[in-house]
Amino acid sequence: GEVIVEPLIRTTISDDRGEEPRYVGYAASELCEKGYGIEDVIGLLWNKKLPSKEESEIIKRIIMISADHGPAVSGAFGSIIAACAGIDLPQAVSAGMTMIGPRFGGAVTNAGKYFKYGVKEYPNDISGFLSWMKQNVGPVPGIGHRVKSLKNPDKRVKYLVDYVKNHTTLHTPCLDYALEVEKVTTAKKDNLILNVDGTIGCILVDLDFPEYSLNGFFVLARTIGMIGHWIDQNNQNSRLIRLYDYLINYAVKEEREVPEKK
Ligand code: ACO
Ligand code: LMR
Repeated sequence: GEVIVEPLIRTTISDDRGEEPRYVGYAASELCEKGYGIEDVIGLLWNKKLPSKEESEIIKRIIMISADHGPAVSGAFGSIIAACAGIDLPQAVSAGMTMIGPRFGGAVTNAGKYFKYGVKEYPNDISGFLSWMKQNVGPVPGIGHRVKSLKNPDKRVKYLVDYVKNHTTLHTPCLDYALEVEKVTTAKKDNLILNVDGTIGCILVDLDFPEYSLNGFFVLARTIGMIGHWIDQNNQNSRLIRLYDYLINYAVKEEREVPEKK
């Protein structure tokens, strides 16, 4: 007779049982045929919705602008060190990926989450929000940058804010709130700007992407850059990296004799 078993997993996003994958019901080839792009596939697989044309244009820009930020940042540097150690592409990229976290690139989700919380709980009280954050969270995710500041603004942030606010009809309560927070934090210290993580987190909240999906945008975008760095190092036959002594502050004990073991 028929054996009935409990399913092991449940999926709500994709199905490959036909001739080709369907993303939330839509055949992949039909999406291609009808002119949809990668940003629409992201909308389907991460938010189960086809974005509007205007929303797709925003998503595309978020990915383009976050794809790379040079070799010096934690993620690219991790992948470059791995590439130079002869590590294969997937593992070298995942070495860089490992760096994405609360300080670098992985603050998007919490930026979206806490700025949204601010809009709801401290709508006209930025200093109340900042005190709550200080007491309950710590550094505000999405605020602060090691090298960008009021004097050296982050063009990526300026571009995205201008694009969303002046070239789309998106309603931006979360982004507006974060920009108000930035006014207060930069008055304290000029590098406490709204950073890329904070900007994309807020725009994605305003686009109604689920909170858990937000870091995915940085991860996806930066994968493009990390793969690029791996290819670049391999093309150049780069050698193993070993830090020069002058790059290390050896704050260690003087050389001394090992005592006899008791
Ligand atoms: N909220 C509140 N205060 C902050 C914040 C913040 N987000 N960031 C820094 N500060 C304060 C620190 O408390 C410190 O104050 P103090 O001098 O009174 O002790 C001062 O600014 C300097 O802090 P550092 O951590 O030394 O600053 P640094 O330049 O090294 O930090 C960083 C840069 C890691 C991005 C930091 O601003 C931060 O943690 N921000 C939140 C996380 C975040 O958004 N990361 C994403 C960055 S963008 C990207 O990676 C793509
Ligand atoms: C990035 O996009 O990697 C950053 O903004 C971090 C940095 O230090 O440049």
